[in-house]
Amino acid sequence: MTKTVFLTGASSGIGRALAPELAARGYDLVLAARRTDSLEQVRQDIAARHPQRRVETRALDVTRYDEVQAAIAETAHAPGGLDLVIANAGIGSTGLIGKGHFDEDRRVIETNVLGAMATIDAAVAQFRAQNRGQIVVISSVAAYRGMPGAGSYCASKAAIAVYADAARGELHGTPIRVTTLFPGYIDTPINEDMKSRPFLIDVTRGARIVADLIERGVETSTVPVMPWSLIGPLLRMLPMGMLARSAKGALPGGGN
Ligand SMILES: NC(=O)c1ccc[n+]([C@@H]2O[C@H](COP(=O)([O-])OP(=O)(O)OC[C@H]3O[C@@H](n4cnc5c(N)ncnc54)[C@H](OP(=O)(O)O)[C@@H]3O)[C@@H](O)[C@H]2O)c1
Repeated sequence: MTKTVFLTGASSGIGRALAPELAARGYDLVLAARRTDSLEQVRQDIAARHPQRRVETRALDVTRYDEVQAAIAETAHAPGGLDLVIANAGIGSTGLIGKGHFDEDRRVIETNVLGAMATIDAAVAQFRAQNRGQIVVISSVAAYRGMPGAGSYCASKAAIAVYADAARGELHGTPIRVTTLFPGYIDTPINEDMKSRPFLIDVTRGARIVADLIERGVETSTVPVMPWSLIGPLLRMLPMGMLARSAKGALPGGGN
């Protein structure tokens, strides 16, 4: 039977590449983001390559928390229902703490934490009612350690991963799955200005790996699995001096 996915952040980067990947695997899609012109392009590309798939676009700002809840509820109650919700929308940010970046830091938390929490909360409500479904949360290897110069981003990705852990625990023993993914560097606009992107992979490969992990129903995984499943935990043990030096070198303008 055809499954339907609600995907946030479908207008760019990972979401934009994941949409046709999931269409190729037989999913119908509801594509959400603020940039509707980009969503429409994604819809048209999929319609040309996979004409049998149903693809809807939805203008959505995930920081309008009520609208997130409404959009997911509407999709779940539409013909075809809802099987998979992917909380992928997110923004990046660099800048040193105490150097005038607080407004941007607040936007990061509003988008990456509260926006994703609104998405997950709405998905859990629908999936509990129908007693099935899968929620995918796109965290980051940035969740493993507070990198100097990326405090709010790292904090946001750690927060949403921990929130997803709690959801998984609450849903333990039910048919509802929670998958948390921790991507390393995938070539998208979010990181294109960074000086250093170790182990970078292209977005098509990244989307394919994400789709494989979703279909396997894993609880948690880095993307790709190697080398990040080894490096991620090691980041936690890296001496502070090394961490400070490597992070400073990676930031645009030294992270000012
Ligand atoms: N690329 C990487 O290396 C990497 C690594 C680890 C984790 N991630 C995570 O992967 C996710 C996708 O990032 P990406 O690399 O694909 O970056 P991207 O190309 O910049 O895409 C970000 C997406 O999020 C959407 N978005 C941002 N703010 C939003 C808002 N307020 N409401 C709705 N949608 C919003 C954007 O759509 P609109 O602007 O059209 O709204 C866009 O579709 C993010 O959560 C990011 O933190 C990426």
